[in-house]
Amino acid sequence: MFWNTIAAGALLAQSASAQNMLRFACSQLTVERADPLVSPGQAPAPHTHQIIGGNSFNLTMEPAKYDPPSLSTCTTCTYSEDFSNYWTASLYFQSPDNKTFQRVPQFANVGLQQDGGMTVYYMPYSAVNGKMTAFKPGFRMLAGDPMMKKNTYKPSICHRCLGNGEGFAPCDSKDTSELPTKYCPKGIRATVIFPSCWDGVNLDSPDHKSHVAYSNGGGLGTPKCPSTHPVSIPQVMYEVMWDTGRYKNTAWYGNGKQPFVYSFGDGTGYGQHGDYLFGWKGDALQKAMDALPSGKCANANCSVLKIQSAQQSMTCKKAQQVKEDVGKDGSWIKELPGGAPVTYAN
Ligand SMILES: *[C@@H]1O[C@H](CO)[C@@H](O)[C@H](O)[C@H]1NC(C)=O
Ligand SMILES: *[C@@H]1O[C@H](CO)[C@@H](O)[C@H](O)[C@H]1NC(C)=O
Ligand SMILES: *[C@@H]1O[C@H](CO)[C@@H](O)[C@H](O)[C@H]1NC(C)=O
Repeated sequence: MFWNTIAAGALLAQSASAQNMLRFACSQLTVERADPLVSPGQAPAPHTHQIIGGNSFNLTMEPAKYDPPSLSTCTTCTYSEDFSNYWTASLYFQSPDNKTFQRVPQFANVGLQQDGGMTVYYMPYSAVNGKMTAFKPGFRMLAGDPMMKKNTYKPSICHRCLGNGEGFAPCDSKDTSELPTKYCPKGIRATVIFPSCWDGVNLDSPDHKSHVAYSNGGGLGTPKCPSTHPVSIPQVMYEVMWDTGRYKNTAWYGNGKQPFVYSFGDGTGYGQHGDYLFGWKGDALQKAMDALPSGKCANANCSVLKIQSAQQSMTCKKAQQVKEDVGKDGSWIKELPGGAPVTYAN
């Protein structure tokens, strides 16, 4: 769900209008144990990911050599020149009754049409003097930390319990780092917010994080980059809508318990993370960022970009390269793909 548009307008009035961003849908490309950023070439990668974007997604995608815009023939995103890949861990329901797992389906965000996948944002909040430098070919980054066992990433990794008292801006005080422990009738929205500052040199770094930085402690709406990472980049954000509302038995929730677990065995949600691999064609993203202040470019209707219909974007699919049942169409599986044990905090 998009945060309330009117409220967001008021919130951002000092720096940018609510329209000053791209917000668009990308349908599911594939769901599999592949991770070209953290475990390139590894088949299978340790845990299941849900992946969107260009269909050149591959087990290995070497920076600046493997060129998604020239290797892809389609993308699942609204903007048809965006062949980037975006992915997160998948979420599973573990039956408290018999301990088997079912992969939680994803649904479309408010006002968008899509088949699984995510909502992607490119936001100009941290633009210094209005200038936003788009990513260079080969750029990639990671937000969050799968090893995280405590409440540390609140400004950038969070969950909202939908239909149970909505919040305001993403990762505000009503959202939680952990997976909500109450029943969420309208689903759980997981938010991943990426850093908005870059060192201006490196396309990647060994931890996939240190070439970028959050400004002023993380989260959204921060105006200034640190001197170590002086270049203002578009702030990327993902929203994943998990259809947890279908798991209704109230006995499964409360007193600190809930039945969901991320694909790497994290039953708290603190370790949720997102991966970004840039793949826009030519200077399309830079053109869009430059056009944001003019009002000609907003959300899923940016007139300087090529747009494809929702139907068209849904036809772009990629067969699993790592073929296995990661929980297809409601199937029940005995263990998480890769066999990660389910762990809870403390
Ligand atoms: C993906 O990787 C495989 C194996 O390395 C390779 O054969 C294939 O051509 C790659 N796909 C694209 C679109 O380059
Ligand atoms: C396991 O339990 C869930 C409900 O918690 C049920 O829907 C599912 O059919 C059960 N699976 C098996 C194999 O018994
Ligand atoms: C996109 O913008 C054009 C021109 O301003 C407008 O006519 C059209 O209705 C908009 N479409 C959507 C989906 O907002």
